[in-house]
Amino acid sequence: MMLNSIQSICCIGAGYVGGPTMAVIADRCPEIMVNVVDLNEDRIAAWNDPDLSRLPIYEPGLDAVVQRARGRNLFFSCEVDEAISSADMVFISVNTPTKRKGVGAGQASDLRWVEACARQVAKCSKGHTVVVEKSTLPVRTAVAIKAILDIPSRKNHTNDSIPTFSVLSNPEFLAEGTAIADLENPDRVLIGGDNQEAVEALVNIYKHWVSEDKILRTKLWSSELSKLTANAFLAQRISSINAVAALCETTGADVREVALAIGTDSRIGSKFLNAGPGFGGSCFKKDILNLVYLCHYFGLPEVADYWSKVVDLNTWQQSRIARLLVQKLFGTVTAKRIAILGFAFKANTNDTRESPAIRISLDLIEEGAQLAIHDPKVDPTQIELDLKQQPSTVDSNLLAEGTWHFTDSVEEALKGADAVLILTEWEEYRRLNWAFLASLMRAPAWVFDTRSVVDSKQISEAGLILWRLGQGED
Ligand code: NAD
Ligand code: UDX
Repeated sequence: MMLNSIQSICCIGAGYVGGPTMAVIADRCPEIMVNVVDLNEDRIAAWNDPDLSRLPIYEPGLDAVVQRARGRNLFFSCEVDEAISSADMVFISVNTPTKRKGVGAGQASDLRWVEACARQVAKCSKGHTVVVEKSTLPVRTAVAIKAILDIPSRKNHTNDSIPTFSVLSNPEFLAEGTAIADLENPDRVLIGGDNQEAVEALVNIYKHWVSEDKILRTKLWSSELSKLTANAFLAQRISSINAVAALCETTGADVREVALAIGTDSRIGSKFLNAGPGFGGSCFKKDILNLVYLCHYFGLPEVADYWSKVVDLNTWQQSRIARLLVQKLFGTVTAKRIAILGFAFKANTNDTRESPAIRISLDLIEEGAQLAIHDPKVDPTQIELDLKQQPSTVDSNLLAEGTWHFTDSVEEALKGADAVLILTEWEEYRRLNWAFLASLMRAPAWVFDTRSVVDSKQISEAGLILWRLGQGED
């Protein structure tokens, strides 16, 4: 088999990255067989669901891509060994969360799932296989993967059929909510590796739809480290603007005007300057903590402290919102109803991992509030898992303290509420009829807008009091 003509791909991990990435590769490369495998049977069943609205993740445009390729050259299954055996190229796209126990707990990446994949690839591969790190990994992880793949004594192989491997790093830069657009038109594709033939085999796949000048070839270590540092830079911008937002609130400046003024400097640029309730999502916090761990490991405590501050500021930003709301509501929210609009960590996804809504809701529940939570895409069972507390069944009980329940509509969430707290920038929250909604609330009623989605004139005309992040009380 010539490496530059990859015919069959296996992707281990059918999550937020593996699923959409492989769907786009299969869509753009109809001659390549793409098998996406996962241990999670429910997830695979959802990827195979004939009803495309029930795919396991919500991403705009994903359903159309899956519909075109699934059953043609895109297959989802739990047959991990078979898919590895028949593949010329194996992508490892499994989860790499922060370690909870042992050395590096709370900072280092837990690589047990990556290691399990490497062992399985070592056991099941045939001939020469290109192993691609798609998961976000600590710099120099490829050394460990290669060491596992190259274990010489393999019971299942005769001497002349011992498989060989090349390891590449090809981190994924998609953002949730825009994953399909990001994959179809990436800013760049990054490929790190020493084996030029293997690198070109992967380049040839991307060349089906990405122009050559956007495909960057680097050393393995540069590629691994670029992913961690790209996320650190992006998160740093958010912590910077959130720090400025707090200063705006106390000085009478408006963070949106300041962001515009800063962002029009072409050296700075306008993207990622939206102040908000703090960054969420499965990547930023985990990847910065991993970077901090690596800096300590490599003897650079000053560099570690520098990046640590980005996460510290983010935690502070999330926790100050609940405190501020309590303070504005005469110092107590006990048994008061508060409507939470948005639980996803950003708009256009059903993902709640590290969503600021989790910490803020927990803080308000701790203060005794009755939360009425609305989100257009998040499943209430996910909220139950995140809050580690069952929803209340008697939501009309005025004496209930420290409870939450889910509502199917914004109107229902706002009934009898003293305050509404907007945490996700869903498009539908920009078009609410505040004149009507105000009549459902208990006066004096507040709107706390952490995403700058409401029109301040409409809010004041409706007789509501507005507090906006980065601006303060209107
Ligand atoms: P995820 O948790 O959604 O998906 C990972 C999947 O891997 C799970 O379904 C799990 O069951 C499966 N899995 C784990 N071990 C397995 C094994 N041994 N065999 C078969 N399946 C196995 O995670 P994700 O969000 O897709 O992230 C995957 C990687 O990509 C992480 O390293 C993450 O940092 C990185 N990343 C994520 C994003 C994002 O937006 N979510 C973006 C860029 C990079
Ligand atoms: C991020 C990176 O953007 C992506 O390149 C990487 O592959 C995975 O991690 P993701 O976490 O999916 O993507 O979404 P992103 O758009 O980066 O938003 C992350 C968090 O930052 C969200 O909570 C979002 O609301 C917040 N954010 C983003 C802001 O508060 N302000 C901004 O200006 C931008």
